Amino acid sequence: MPSQNDTRKACIIGFPVRHSRSPLIHEYWLDLYGIKGSYERAEVRAGDFPGFMDHFAALGFAGGNVTLPHKQAAFKRCLQTTETAARLKAVNTLWFESGKLCGDNTDAAGFLAALDQDAPGWDDVRAQAVVLGAGGAARAIAYALQLRGAARIWLVNRTRARADALAADLGPPIEAADDSALPRLLSQASLLVNTTSLGMLGQPRLHLGLDPLPEKAAVCDIVYVPLETELIKAAKARALRAVPGIGMLLHQAVPGFERWFGVRPSVTKELRSIIQADIPAAV
Ligand code: ATR
Repeated sequence: MPSQNDTRKACIIGFPVRHSRSPLIHEYWLDLYGIKGSYERAEVRAGDFPGFMDHFAALGFAGGNVTLPHKQAAFKRCLQTTETAARLKAVNTLWFESGKLCGDNTDAAGFLAALDQDAPGWDDVRAQAVVLGAGGAARAIAYALQLRGAARIWLVNRTRARADALAADLGPPIEAADDSALPRLLSQASLLVNTTSLGMLGQPRLHLGLDPLPEKAAVCDIVYVPLETELIKAAKARALRAVPGIGMLLHQAVPGFERWFGVRPSVTKELRSIIQADIPAAV
C-alpha cells in the first residue's frame, strides 16, 4: 500500500483516448478519498506501444489502464498476469509488483458487478444466456458467465466462424448458434447481452425483437454511448430488468484504482451521475 506522502500517477493508454471517461472516474475517487495522485491520458498509437512501455516505469507511472488497440500487446508484455487475463489473452489493467509489470483483465468482473448491482438475483437460477458478438468484449463476458456457473451460453455473431472459435477456446457451456435460432434461444433465455458495437452512436442499429424473452429475463447492453440504447429502451418498455453499459464501465475501473492508490473505491450514485452527465443520453 502506498504511503500517505506518495504522489502516485496512473494513466489510460490507447488510441484514441480523447473521449475516455476513465480520467473522470479516477479523478473523482482521488478527490473522494483525499489521495494525492493523478490519472492522465496517454495517447499511444499501435506502433508506439513498445517504446512507450519501455519508459513506463521511468515516467513515474504506478500503472494504468489499457484500451484499444493495445490489450493483447499489453498481455504479451506482462511478466505476470491474473488467471482471468491469461484466459482472455488481453490485459486492461497494469501495475508493478517488485518492479515486475503485472496485468489483469477487469472487464469480466466489471460486467458481473454491474449485473449484480442493476439486476440483483439475475443468477438465482443458473443463467441461460444469449450473448450477441464474438469479439474481445464477448470473450470477457462469456468467460464471466462461465465462471458464475451459467447453464447455457449461446454466442450469436455476424461472422459465425468467430463464434465457433471462441466457443471452442473457452469450452462448455459456451456454444455458437445461428442468427436464425435467436427467437427460440431468446424464449429460453434468462439473460441477453449485447457485446457488439451495434446501437452505439455513429454505428448501425441493432435490429432485435425482444418479444420471445421470458418476463423475468434481464437485458444488458455494454454500449454506453448513448446512455440508454434502443435495446435498453426496448427492455424497459417490456418491463424487463435492464442493465445499461455504464455499470460495467464504472465497475471495471475499481481494481486498477485499488492497485495504484491502495484504496478499494466504491461505485457511488454520485459517481454514476457525474459520468452520466458526460455522456449523450440518446442518439
Ligand atoms: P470488441 O473487442 O469491442 O468486442 P471486436 O473484437 O471488433 O470489438 O468485436 C466487435 C463485435 O461487434 C463483433 O462480434 C462484430 O461481428 P463480426 O465478428 O462479424 O465482425 C460485431 N459487429 C460489429 N459491427 C457489426 C455489424 N454491422 N453487424 C453485426 N455485427 C457487428
